[in-house]
Amino acid sequence: MAIYLEIKSVHAREILDSRGNPTVEAQVTVRNQENGKLYAGTAAVPSGASTGRFEAVELRDGEPRYFGLGVQHAVKNVNEKIAPALMGKNALNQIQVDRILVELDGTENKENLGANATLSVSLACAKASAGALSLPLYRYVGGTGAHLLPVPMMNILNGGKHAANTVDFQEFMIMPTCADSFADGLRICAETYHNLKKILQGKGLSTGVGDEGGFAPDLPDAESVLELLVEAIRASGYRPGEDVWIAMDAASSELYNEKTDMYHFPGESSLKGEEVIRSADEMISYFETLTQNFPIISIEDALAEDDWEGWQKLTQRLGGKVQLVGDDLFVTNKKRLAAGIKLGTAGSILVKVNQIGTLTEAFEAVELAHKNNYTAVMSHRSGETEDTTIADLAVAWNTGQIKTGAPCRSDRVAKYNRLLRIEEELGEAAEYPGLTAFHVQ
Ligand code: PGA
Ligand code: ZN
Repeated sequence: MAIYLEIKSVHAREILDSRGNPTVEAQVTVRNQENGKLYAGTAAVPSGASTGRFEAVELRDGEPRYFGLGVQHAVKNVNEKIAPALMGKNALNQIQVDRILVELDGTENKENLGANATLSVSLACAKASAGALSLPLYRYVGGTGAHLLPVPMMNILNGGKHAANTVDFQEFMIMPTCADSFADGLRICAETYHNLKKILQGKGLSTGVGDEGGFAPDLPDAESVLELLVEAIRASGYRPGEDVWIAMDAASSELYNEKTDMYHFPGESSLKGEEVIRSADEMISYFETLTQNFPIISIEDALAEDDWEGWQKLTQRLGGKVQLVGDDLFVTNKKRLAAGIKLGTAGSILVKVNQIGTLTEAFEAVELAHKNNYTAVMSHRSGETEDTTIADLAVAWNTGQIKTGAPCRSDRVAKYNRLLRIEEELGEAAEYPGLTAFHVQ
């Protein structure tokens, strides 16, 4: 007889994320009809700050409590609408569960129930099922093939919307491609992070951190950040561009101004005492120069979320040399990714489960990417919780890369620690891809 994990209860509550803002946590309890045993799975939803315009809707109450950011309506949607719709269904049939969520919402962007409501239940359902089968989540979701540990794309210097400093690009990250295991890669990153701290201290710069745990000093431009990263990599005993590479997330939709059709750099402008503005073409040339002068292997959201034409040009110019990642551009949405593939834009998709709102739809995006020779980078949000689901998903879906912040603050470190445990558990079956995680170089 096929196993039937009957959904017995679905319950959500409002908890806090790493920025002290409310988010949704759901608990799904299933009953194994064979032995009558109950299993519960719990999942919490992350939240972005530089949110893409095309993301699924994060339902916020808009009432005075928590400055409008409460999620009591989303919680109520789980408890009063989603719970009755899922009662008695087989949690093992994740696709059916997610289809019910999508249909119950009935909109393109989940504005009805809220993607925070649907995602909490979707993930909790998978976790309850994994528990009921006594399987780790990565094995339950990924099956027998799940074995690839991700190369960390570790954000060690924060800017943009994630910090109050003058750095305009949002994220400057390091990728330890020379490591022979995830654990070794993590050590290289953490040592580089600590060396960067010493270098900043030596220069009298701030070592306060941004939302993702990276340092957030006031620096005049991207070049000065990149120079510091190169120095920190060298100070750690590694060769920039051979052992350890640099990745950036420009998050340029945040810099783009529709009225002027230009990218505005407020931090650079304030420190240089003159208005710094760049057109899309100038942005492309700027990134080209940066990649010529620094060991950059990956650039995310180099251009705004709707500039398909610019992205095409960018891909033609730089796509063969660096990994071009679409975050706000693709928003983990297979339709937007399909459009991008058709136009030949970017070469990689950032995967944020809350951008789309169900596990199945996030997987469909990864599947489409891999089928078309695009890479996929599993990712956290700037607002996180102690939930480590994305660590398991990175291994389950063999993405080979993960972006989950600095080795600082438990909301970030929890994911790295989970990956250490997974690597240990996989033993000799664990594979660390290093440079093969990329299609460029
Ligand atoms: P967000 O930032 O979670 O604030 O959107 C992360 C990113 O842009 O990659
Ligand atoms: Zn991004």
